[in-house]
Amino acid sequence: IQPAPDDVARWAANYIVRKINLANPTEEKPFVLGLPTGSTPLNTYRELIKLHQSGKVSFQHVVTFNMDEYVGLPEEHPESYHSFMWTNFFKHIDIQEKNVNILNGNAEDIKAECARYEEKIKSVGGIDLFMGGVGADGHIAFNEPGSSLASRTRDKELNYDTLVANSRFFDNDIDKVPKSALTVGVGTVMDAKEVLVLVTGHNKARALHEAIEGGVNHMWTITALQLHPRGIIICDENATVEL
Ligand code: GLP
Repeated sequence: IQPAPDDVARWAANYIVRKINLANPTEEKPFVLGLPTGSTPLNTYRELIKLHQSGKVSFQHVVTFNMDEYVGLPEEHPESYHSFMWTNFFKHIDIQEKNVNILNGNAEDIKAECARYEEKIKSVGGIDLFMGGVGADGHIAFNEPGSSLASRTRDKELNYDTLVANSRFFDNDIDKVPKSALTVGVGTVMDAKEVLVLVTGHNKARALHEAIEGGVNHMWTITALQLHPRGIIICDENATVEL
């Protein structure tokens, strides 16, 4: 528990950098990092960029897999998760473009795209560290309430609460929010060697309560973290008011 969101971001960024540097990654044995979007990780991306600019970390041999992407939104749309990641992170660091993996929400064959993603994760030896956020309703990636805790990468219809929450990025117009997304499954996240979830703000207090004090269940998919041998939650004081 950290005092404020800035402290959460610094803690998370330093943790990730330490992990990358300890692994001493090479072209043959890269460090594999899972990444989220959303407003919560923005400060962490800023901190990671600072650490990179001050020479504390290189992303040359880091391979990334993003959690999710909207279906049917052009890649170049400012609210696509492709745009989000390049604007807020990738273009400021020394990552190689070939090492960036983001689901293609415009793939003709959605099933094949999801299977390809799972295969690609396997082919690089699995994810070393998956960073994530959480929705106010406890969803991780886009694993909405009711998602199987064993789920793999697939397309998922977004529920009403998520459409409303994300409409803030689409002129507050719920009709403009894509109705579905491709997302890694809860099972995909749990296969990572380590999972680091950032939780900040009062509006996440219920989700944090369920995550830590609730029972493991598919309505609050974040609760699966309780079963992970190396699951870490890094949160601010405001998020803890229901603990
Ligand atoms: C979206 C993303 C999630 C993210 C959540 C919370 O649903 N798919 O990965 O955790 O939003 O976002 P925020 O951090 O903006 O509250």
